[in-house]
Amino acid sequence: MKIKTLLAGVAAGAMVIGLAACSSGGSGASSTGAAAAGDGGLIGVAMPTKSSERWIQDGDAVKSQLEDAGYTVDLQYAEDDIPTQVSQIENMITKGAKALIIASIDGTTLTSVLQEAADNSIPVIAYDRLIRDTPNVDYYASFDNYKVGVQQANSVLNGLGLVGLDGTPTSGAPAGPFNIELFAGSPDDNNASFFWNGAIDTLQPYIDKKILVVKSGQTAFEQAATLRWDGETAQKRMENILTSTYSDGSKVNAVLSPYDGISRGIISALTDAGYTVGAGWPVISGQDAELDSVKAIVAGEQYATIFKDTRNLAKVAVDMATALLQGNTPQTNNTKDYNNGVKVVPAYLLESQIVVKDNIKDVLVTSGYYTDAEING
Ligand code: GAL
Repeated sequence: MKIKTLLAGVAAGAMVIGLAACSSGGSGASSTGAAAAGDGGLIGVAMPTKSSERWIQDGDAVKSQLEDAGYTVDLQYAEDDIPTQVSQIENMITKGAKALIIASIDGTTLTSVLQEAADNSIPVIAYDRLIRDTPNVDYYASFDNYKVGVQQANSVLNGLGLVGLDGTPTSGAPAGPFNIELFAGSPDDNNASFFWNGAIDTLQPYIDKKILVVKSGQTAFEQAATLRWDGETAQKRMENILTSTYSDGSKVNAVLSPYDGISRGIISALTDAGYTVGAGWPVISGQDAELDSVKAIVAGEQYATIFKDTRNLAKVAVDMATALLQGNTPQTNNTKDYNNGVKVVPAYLLESQIVVKDNIKDVLVTSGYYTDAEING
């Protein structure tokens, strides 16, 4: 409820600012000399990669919302290559961008290019991933990333019959033990440790009670981490675990995965090792509600994903940027949790939702995120 109200506020704010940007007209454009279509001036949007569907949705949503608000947009993808992202941002600064919205590849590598942005008085919004080790990031638009991790763990526990989706213990739950393996995201992405901490805090009581057993013994973040969130890297690690730990005929019953692309790698490793969907197929979590993974949920390969509505995230980031350009203070709802190593970056955090087979229609189709035909067609 609360979030709906806040979002309505964000939407209304964006509209008002959009109108203001339109009516204040050409001065912004002529002062930068770079804005061709929109009159509000140029905004640079740096996204990490097109190889993951979610970032395409994010980029499209940010671009169209900024254009609706009267800005011109330079949207760039860096194919997960750090120097490419740095030079794309440098280019945006050279072209006269009035603000930057950045989803970083490695949150620690933008310090010098963001110094350039600060020298040119260009405000910077960190998009979904916190930018670290610099004072020159003004605001952070994201989700409650710790809670995402809790939801990922709860989705796994739910698939094993231990809890409801909200984490409430099921009465008469099975005693286990269940074999579980743990995957984490990219260690250079600030979000990865938030997801991991949320998930492990939730799973630990079950591990302590030996209801869950991490049979490989790989329980440290560093062991579980997956550089660049890469599906093939996850697939190889899963293959190694299956060979080293499950050749004795034992089975893996659950896999904590922090991202749909990683889940798809895990699914390939399991299939190659002879697991088949149905009884004996493990419970696997995910994140981002990517279309292929939603289809995998329908097919029973993946148990759950976490839906983070990229349209709403875009709206928050766009509102932050436009507010700053109008000399207003962006709305925030968290000013304590996201210390980037230099300062606490004020954040606006959105809520996420667990998606399982039973609520795909309610959560993803009714909201217009996907059509039924895209999922089931
Ligand atoms: C994280 C993001 C996740 C997922 C992952 C891989 O930073 O919060 O939702 O997209 O990157 O792209």
